[in-house]
Amino acid sequence: MAQLWGGRFTKETDKLVYNFNASISFDQKFYKQDIEGSIAHVKMLGKQGILTDQESGDIVRALQEIRQDVEDGKLQITDEYEDIHSFVEANLIDRLGDTGKKLHTGRSRNDQVALDMRLYTREEVKETDALLKELLKELLKIMEENTGTIMPGFTHLQKAQPVTLAHHVGAYFEMFRRDRGRLHDIYERMNYCPLGAGALAGTTYPLDREYTAELLGFYGPTLNSMDSVSDRDYVTEFLSALSTVMMHLSRFCEEIIIWNSNEYQFVEIDDAYSTGSSIMPQKKNPDIAELVRGKTGRVYGALMSILTTMKGIPLAYNKDMQEDKELTFDAIDTVKGCLALFTGMISTMKFRKEVMSKSARHGFTNATDAADYLVNHGVPFRDAHGIVGRIVLYCIEKGIAIDDMSLDELKAICPVFEADIYEAISMETCVNKRLTIGAPGKEAMEKVIALEKAYLEEN
Ligand code: ARG
Repeated sequence: MAQLWGGRFTKETDKLVYNFNASISFDQKFYKQDIEGSIAHVKMLGKQGILTDQESGDIVRALQEIRQDVEDGKLQITDEYEDIHSFVEANLIDRLGDTGKKLHTGRSRNDQVALDMRLYTREEVKETDALLKELLKELLKIMEENTGTIMPGFTHLQKAQPVTLAHHVGAYFEMFRRDRGRLHDIYERMNYCPLGAGALAGTTYPLDREYTAELLGFYGPTLNSMDSVSDRDYVTEFLSALSTVMMHLSRFCEEIIIWNSNEYQFVEIDDAYSTGSSIMPQKKNPDIAELVRGKTGRVYGALMSILTTMKGIPLAYNKDMQEDKELTFDAIDTVKGCLALFTGMISTMKFRKEVMSKSARHGFTNATDAADYLVNHGVPFRDAHGIVGRIVLYCIEKGIAIDDMSLDELKAICPVFEADIYEAISMETCVNKRLTIGAPGKEAMEKVIALEKAYLEEN
């Protein structure tokens, strides 16, 4: 049991207590950040004359060696240490003796862990953003190729009006773009350095907090030492943004599962992204989409957990806050895995365009446009609605689409119809006449695609 404390104790820690308290099994995940933070701290101690240049230089070199040895597998992080901070300091002392014992001058594990967690989260915010960008690129590709691929748009999962695949996928583009915006906001808010806050009340050493902040790529130091050691807002914000990412992925997965079903057959998930059944030889299941949908619960769980953990903690640091790590790490890894797999799945998925367009044609998705046609010929909308309602009923009885009716049949229900009705209610017209920005019409969609493309180039 290697601990950084013990002077005021007369007994060994109970073994169960030690294990319950220890965090090495999970905080070893940020050994790099811990060493990076220590290097910045020690450089600053040297610059301020709190350590000699020689001492500071020796410690920096030894810390770099420790990091290298861990990376090369020469040095194992084992559970004989209480936490990652103890591991690094103990190894430093092994290598440098008394000089190593000076590392922790003017620092507490409270500001140290606050820094480590912030550095780790900051990196993960960037990595998640990069994965979202890859997904957006893939979505944009599908959009560019499908501005003319007609499919039914749904409300209540009932066919409503025709849209295009580009337009449907474009809706998800917006969602994931907003997700990136949230990550950007979090980054801007969190990028301040808590190092130097000490246990809670700063220190009496003349630390240069601006300098360490700068060395570590922060915009500047945090402004209240008690808040610095006990702020985990950026974790709750990140988990909230990740939960929203999962909510979006899950909705998309749900649609893909429906589209991939035997009844719809709008898409075919690639063999490489499907799985079989142990008993039913015909099965090809959308397990990846289902798993992504399922893992959403786990990420929401992490968010609820941190919110609940934080809600009753008096200022400043309390050990409860050690609970910020495990579920957060799990949620981050889960979301990153889901994003990568989902992007792979949709980039290899086949869209069965003819099935989609046939489905749009046979679902009365042009009924609104038929009513609009009558309105344009002087029929009040409410009457037009009733007339087209009767037409739909007629078609259902005959098992045909509106455009399959002869002009005589149409005229028998309403004499206002003329031969140009067929052109007016063709799927292509229905879609391409919708040209306000944000609508599915080809020209409107192309304008949006150009804007999204420019966004991806700049961001
Ligand atoms: N393992 C602790 C954590 O994760 C590190 C900080 C310990 N500080 C303390 N005062 N015991 O929060």
